[in-house]
Amino acid sequence: MTTSAAGFDRWYAERVESPVADELVRRVLGLPPDLQSTSLLGGAGLDEVVTALDLRDGQVLLDLACGRGGYGLEIARRSGCRVVGVDFSAVAIGQAQRRAQELGLADRADFRVGELAGTGLGAASVDAVLIVDAVQFAESKLDALRECRRVLRPGGRVVITCWEALDAADDAVPARMRQMDLARQLPSAGFADVEVTDKPAWRRVEHALWQEALTLDARDDPAMLSMQEEARRVLATFDGLRRVLATATVPR
Ligand SMILES: C[S@@+](CC[C@H](N)C(=O)[O-])C[C@H]1O[C@@H](n2cnc3c(N)ncnc32)[C@H](O)[C@@H]1O
Repeated sequence: MTTSAAGFDRWYAERVESPVADELVRRVLGLPPDLQSTSLLGGAGLDEVVTALDLRDGQVLLDLACGRGGYGLEIARRSGCRVVGVDFSAVAIGQAQRRAQELGLADRADFRVGELAGTGLGAASVDAVLIVDAVQFAESKLDALRECRRVLRPGGRVVITCWEALDAADDAVPARMRQMDLARQLPSAGFADVEVTDKPAWRRVEHALWQEALTLDARDDPAMLSMQEEARRVLATFDGLRRVLATATVPR
């Protein structure tokens, strides 16, 4: 699995050529037709995330490690908020900018290249931060969470979807997942009102997606071939992870 910006650039370049991969993800995860996801947050999970973010018209959402910006743009459409999307893949950011224009949301969307632990945004400049299935890629999870706290205004909220190892000593599970412990890390980064909830129903949908990916004929489609490789890897250690939704606020 790639974890560098250059690796993600290649991954996004392949993905744009693959309507099959996008159709599969959208259908099995139950996502709205316009939403371009490169993660595993499904339609029901997105509804919970929107409720947890509780954004109002004109407020600012940071979609951190936003990829093609699918979730941030959908939330902007639903809530009337503005979205700032940050990702270290310049290719993903280019795709997100084009998508915002196609959806008529360019005047409420600002996509820029930046890091999980260094967004380039001002202190206390956003009302909410969303990280969908990406915080595990941060070299230092704590530095990424501290960056979320820095850019949030007092009372602002962070919402994170991720996975955690059931057993941090299980080295069959990727190290980046074994390093996740949001119930401990969010308070260490200065957050209050921390809640980390298990999401077994989301996990069942993920399982269905990986299984169906393996039944398709990938032929010369590099995005599908890469999805199948990931499916084999993920299914081999599937029972070692739990799916979590974490929410927390910045003290006033
Ligand atoms: C699984 S994708 C999720 C993308 C998007 N959040 C979504 O749900 O569609 C993980 C994303 O994290 C980004 N990423 C990984 N490490 C990063 C880092 N250190 N700083 C910024 N972005 C990073 C990748 O480029 C990729 O877009």
